[in-house]
Amino acid sequence: MKVLIVGSGGREHAIAVSMHKSKRVSKLFCVPGNAGIAQIAECEPSIGVMEFDKIVAYAKEKQIDLVFVAPDDPLVGGLVDVLEAAGFRVFGPRANAAILEGSKAFSKDLMKKYHIPTAAYETFDDPQEALAYLETATMPIVLKADGLALGKGVLICNTLEEAKAGVREIMLDKHFGSAGNRMVIEEFMTGREVSVLAWVDGKTIKPMTSAQDHKRAKDGDQGLNTGGMGNFSPSPFYTKEVQEFCEKYIYQPTVDAMRAEGREFKGVIFFGLMLTPNGPRVLEYNARFGDPETQVVLCRMKNDILDVVDACIDGTLDQVDLEFEDNAAVCVVLASDGYPVAYEKGFEITGLENFEGREDYYCFHAGSKFDANGKIVTNGGRVLGVTAKGATLKEARAKAYEATKWVNFANKYMRTDIGKAIDEA
Ligand code: AMP
Ligand code: GLY
Repeated sequence: MKVLIVGSGGREHAIAVSMHKSKRVSKLFCVPGNAGIAQIAECEPSIGVMEFDKIVAYAKEKQIDLVFVAPDDPLVGGLVDVLEAAGFRVFGPRANAAILEGSKAFSKDLMKKYHIPTAAYETFDDPQEALAYLETATMPIVLKADGLALGKGVLICNTLEEAKAGVREIMLDKHFGSAGNRMVIEEFMTGREVSVLAWVDGKTIKPMTSAQDHKRAKDGDQGLNTGGMGNFSPSPFYTKEVQEFCEKYIYQPTVDAMRAEGREFKGVIFFGLMLTPNGPRVLEYNARFGDPETQVVLCRMKNDILDVVDACIDGTLDQVDLEFEDNAAVCVVLASDGYPVAYEKGFEITGLENFEGREDYYCFHAGSKFDANGKIVTNGGRVLGVTAKGATLKEARAKAYEATKWVNFANKYMRTDIGKAIDEA
């Protein structure tokens, strides 16, 4: 089969590596892709993920058998619907199901209606009403822009003043654009965070192994929220008991709720969970693979990825026996200094060859490209996701940090405490 992946980050590189291993994939394509993905796939850097007409034309020209849509924007924007209408076989939720991520108000209302455990909340379309509500609310409190905001539309406010400023930022100054036309104000919860990605075929859900992300830019969870600075899998805090609770009260109920609403979900649901003193709660849903969760999860999956993707599309996931290696993986993101605010791009990346032929080590490209001379240069805030597998989390962490020394570029920055939580487990 000829497979086209839509996207350009470390997540897409990890998906491409899994696809490349599949005996059933004859040729891989990627739009726009990056310099790492280009080692195993034909990339078309000139086509953006929101250029639906160009993607359809490209898929026709290359006679693609299956399109895998990975990022949130095109999923929420309806790329799956557009490709299906053009006759393609596609992996990913349609727009009416991707709203699970596209609107926080929708997902909160869904959870409330179907009794899926999450933080208490209120939704506001009017900034004055939101400001008035805050006067009676308990601090800290969490403000969320309704729509997609590159993972940055969430503000945790410790004081009433901060919260009022947050409402103005989201709803009046439109810091996150139209994502802030509506907002959710919710109860602040405490506990450890766990990410669980799950394959879904509309009816059946098969959760993958767990992971823990590190969203803040700096060590000790300081600094601004980012797309994710590294993570590890599995999470030692995701016990069998927690898993059973989530399967019963969160995973299957979510899939059933979407079906009951006439929004059958096919693809991957990413459950952002918080293990609170009162039990697991949903922090957020994403309608896609996580980045960098994918990097530590897919490399541990034993199944042929195409078999699972096919089962999700065909509604036969109940017949798939999902298997993961009994080991661990850690991913450390090498970013451009200054990310997520301001950073320079275009610096040469050296040492990539050190990963060639090494088992258990991966250098996933998140933001890279070829310059005019054919050299691989930095092209984003997150540049590489250096990933290693080990028998234990500690071993995987030591190997991943060792491998961060093998590659270099100007302004290379990383957190030095990815996986530190393992020591407390
Ligand atoms: P989200 O994009 O919804 O995952 O939110 C980003 C981050 O904000 C999460 O990973 C949490 O660390 C934090 N967060 C979101 N909602 C809450 C909440 N209700 N209570 C405490 N922290 C939260
Ligand atoms: N790493 C978090 C996300 O992909 O949304």
